[in-house]
Amino acid sequence: MPPFKMRELGRTDTQALLAFETRNREWFESHIEARAPAFYSLQGVAEHIEGYLAAFVAGTWHPLVIEDCSANIIGRANLKSIDTARRSAEVGYRIAQSACGQGLATQALRQLIEQARTRWQLTQLVAYVYPENLGSRKVLERCGFLLEQPASDDKAGGERRFVLSI
Ligand SMILES: CC(C)(COP(=O)(O)OP(=O)(O)OC[C@H]1O[C@@H](n2cnc3c(N)ncnc32)[C@H](O)[C@@H]1OP(=O)(O)O)[C@@H](O)C(=O)NCCC(=O)NCCS
Repeated sequence: MPPFKMRELGRTDTQALLAFETRNREWFESHIEARAPAFYSLQGVAEHIEGYLAAFVAGTWHPLVIEDCSANIIGRANLKSIDTARRSAEVGYRIAQSACGQGLATQALRQLIEQARTRWQLTQLVAYVYPENLGSRKVLERCGFLLEQPASDDKAGGERRFVLSI
């Protein structure tokens, strides 16, 4: 597997993130909810980053990017809706189509779990996945997430809720 690095999202990532999201827009939209059209501009991505960094400072979001050896962004992985009182958070990740199938999402999710445990002292992680997203289900199950039965999530659109106790 080619080397990669996972690090926190930063203000200087605007152009690289726009390139990553634009190049993979169709790919992502075939698996997960589409972003608003206004996102796909330098201003849109800059605002997106500002929002994520504000949430990071507030301790409700931990946004990470995955870079290849040429400093291109090839993936993203986030702890979302961090709730320190309930000690839980949601996980989310997306990998460039060209970088899929090499174990990147699995490694990224393992790092998220580690961050959740050591940095945020969380005890539970949840993920929402469409039933047809077999690749994502495999990643979650490989990292120990269990499908909640019956699917008792309150999200629309038939997403399934997976839970990991850590
Ligand atoms: C889902 C996603 C994150 C997987 O990323 P990845 O880096 O390819 O994941 P990994 O390589 O760690 O593992 C994927 C596994 O699923 C398998 N897989 C992928 N698509 C599959 C499919 N349609 N059917 C069955 N297995 C599939 C792969 O073969 C791999 O298993 P293996 O390692 O045993 O060969 C990536 O496809 C993606 O970003 N999709 C679009 C956004 C998305 O769906 N995000 C998740 C939202 S919940």
